[in-house]
Amino acid sequence: MGLPRALPPAAALRLAGLLCAAGILLASGAGGGGTGGVRRPSGDGMNVLFIVSDDLRPVLGCYGDLVVKSPNIDQLASRSVVFQNAFAQQAVCAPSRVSFLTGRRPDTTRLYDFHSYWRVHAGNYTTLPQYFKENGYISMSVGKVFHPGVSSNHNDDYPYSWSVPPFHPSSEKYENTKVCKGKDGQLHANLICPVDVSEMPEGTLPDIQSTKEAIRLLNIMKENNSKFFLSVGYHKPHIPFRYPQEFLKLYPLENITLAPDPSVPKGLPSVAYNPWMDIRRRDDVQALNISFPYGPIPEDFQRQIRQNYFASVSYLDMLVGKLLNALDDTGLSNNTIVVFTADHGWSLGEHGEWAKYSNFDVATRVPLMFYVPGMTAPLSYPGYRHFPFIDLFDRVLKPLPQGKPKEMVELVSLFPTLAELAGLRVPPLCPDTSFHVSLCTEGQSMVQYFPSAKGGHESSSEEGKLHRPPIAFSQYPRPSDTPQLNSDLPLLKDIRVMGYSMHTVYYRCTLWLGFNPSNFTVDRNDVHGGELYFVESDPNQDHNVYGSETHGHLTKTLCRILEH
Ligand SMILES: *[C@@H]1O[C@H](CO)[C@@H](O)[C@H](O)[C@H]1NC(C)=O
Ligand SMILES: *[C@@H]1O[C@H](CO)[C@@H](O)[C@H](O)[C@H]1NC(C)=O
Ligand SMILES: *[C@@H]1O[C@H](CO)[C@@H](O)[C@H](O)[C@H]1NC(C)=O
Ligand SMILES: *[C@@H]1O[C@H](CO)[C@@H](O)[C@H](O)[C@H]1NC(C)=O
Ligand SMILES: *[C@@H]1O[C@H](CO)[C@@H](O)[C@H](O)[C@H]1NC(C)=O
Ligand SMILES: *[C@@H]1O[C@H](CO)[C@@H](O)[C@H](O)[C@H]1NC(C)=O
Repeated sequence: MGLPRALPPAAALRLAGLLCAAGILLASGAGGGGTGGVRRPSGDGMNVLFIVSDDLRPVLGCYGDLVVKSPNIDQLASRSVVFQNAFAQQAVCAPSRVSFLTGRRPDTTRLYDFHSYWRVHAGNYTTLPQYFKENGYISMSVGKVFHPGVSSNHNDDYPYSWSVPPFHPSSEKYENTKVCKGKDGQLHANLICPVDVSEMPEGTLPDIQSTKEAIRLLNIMKENNSKFFLSVGYHKPHIPFRYPQEFLKLYPLENITLAPDPSVPKGLPSVAYNPWMDIRRRDDVQALNISFPYGPIPEDFQRQIRQNYFASVSYLDMLVGKLLNALDDTGLSNNTIVVFTADHGWSLGEHGEWAKYSNFDVATRVPLMFYVPGMTAPLSYPGYRHFPFIDLFDRVLKPLPQGKPKEMVELVSLFPTLAELAGLRVPPLCPDTSFHVSLCTEGQSMVQYFPSAKGGHESSSEEGKLHRPPIAFSQYPRPSDTPQLNSDLPLLKDIRVMGYSMHTVYYRCTLWLGFNPSNFTVDRNDVHGGELYFVESDPNQDHNVYGSETHGHLTKTLCRILEH
């Protein structure tokens, strides 16, 4: 492992400038109001199909991945604006979902674990689907949109968020049961679980059922003639890797490499490390006797995890292809906005880590694309198909996305973005303290970053632009400075440290700060660890230069926003 390279002075200067500007913008409370009324995107009055996958990092052809086969999502990307730098606010399911569905950060939903419902625990916030519902849309939830359980009041926030009771696939209850055939011929609760679907309980899989239900609802909506907001939450590629076994054939094991940086980096503060407990608990992984907390997992098994993750992504791609094809069949692809994203990413062995539960980009960065007919793709003549199904075993297309903005954007901004695209009033920016405000957002509409050349709509002046600097924030809680059994998922009462990250196009800085769960206060003088990585010289984030001799001064400047 070489010494970190110094940041080129020019870049450092640009950064310092950016940061000063950022500091001022943030301090002044930034702009107020949304971009509503400034201009009308051509998505006005359109339906919304909101597709959210579970634990999917952007290993997709349309994000330049050379291994993964995802032709149907790539095809969607070729008619969409595809954000290259989109980040989740916390790399674990329930906190991330509640954050982007309410348009508030975890510090405002006060959900860092799975065990509280924001309406009673933090504030009675209006959600994204609720907002569409209150504006005359039929809002519907299929599969995993809210995380089930306490965090969505055991009912996916129905009836507030949804017009009709949410749909859950009946076969999801088998996800964690012993249904995976092992080498011994017995059934286990394995991590790696390619299956013959006909042998599964009920003869199906959850995402297959969700796709069928979503297609059924599209057909009803076509007849009904009313505007709709349909959310479809896929379970894959979340573990266990239970998917139709034919997708494994797309990824011969001998072609699968290890992560480029499979060891725990020397300069990583121990508080930053997540011990991937959910992986360890699976039967097939337990049998490997992997030492806690650092492992490592045997190399051959690392390859198999990667192989099965990729195969699960291709299975997901097939289902997304079927769903989009149904949008064509129903004639709705001409007047429906399609969003595709994920709740957060997933480490595939980088830094000796697996799963989510961290502040590394591999855990926080997500795919994010918007298809807006008439804006990101032309309106079509009757009979034209926007989304012909592509058989993954037939051919591999490499179509190009319509636009690839590099700006740092955040999932917390989905709410104002979709409101603007659909021509609804954009919720105002939240005041500093907003527990009492039911409708506001801590994000900002991303429509300002859409390439304006397409679809004939003019980007109007500078008004409504750059309310806040191009920075994305993420955070992750820890119970202690060293990895413990509960480091991945501490209960609120056990949280002692909060790691706050800021991402710019040049670097990521993370400060791990003392946190008091009884009154939610952060002690900025109580620093438990720091991380600083430069995108250009260290894209994989292996050389932490926080506080290093050569970068001491720079650290102070670059991380300043986090200290306020
Ligand atoms: C939240 O607000 C809704 C109206 O939007 C109301 O019906 C509901 O009772 C409120 N819930 C709580 C917990 O205050
Ligand atoms: C059809 O639309 C109307 C409102 O336009 C709504 O009341 C009704 O429930 C819808 N039917 C279904 C099956 O969603
Ligand atoms: C696997 O690697 C070999 C050799 O590089 C290559 O010829 C083959 O196409 C690869 N197979 C797949 C499915 O990518
Ligand atoms: C794991 O440990 C058990 C009991 O200590 C032993 O029987 C087994 O052979 C070990 N497995 C491996 C893969 O080392
Ligand atoms: C799409 O919309 C345009 C403009 O409203 C219309 O001319 C065209 O026929 C529509 N295409 C389809 C496939 O419905
Ligand atoms: C939060 O609680 C801690 C310990 O109970 C206390 O030291 C601190 O002053 C409190 N902070 C605020 C802002 O109330």
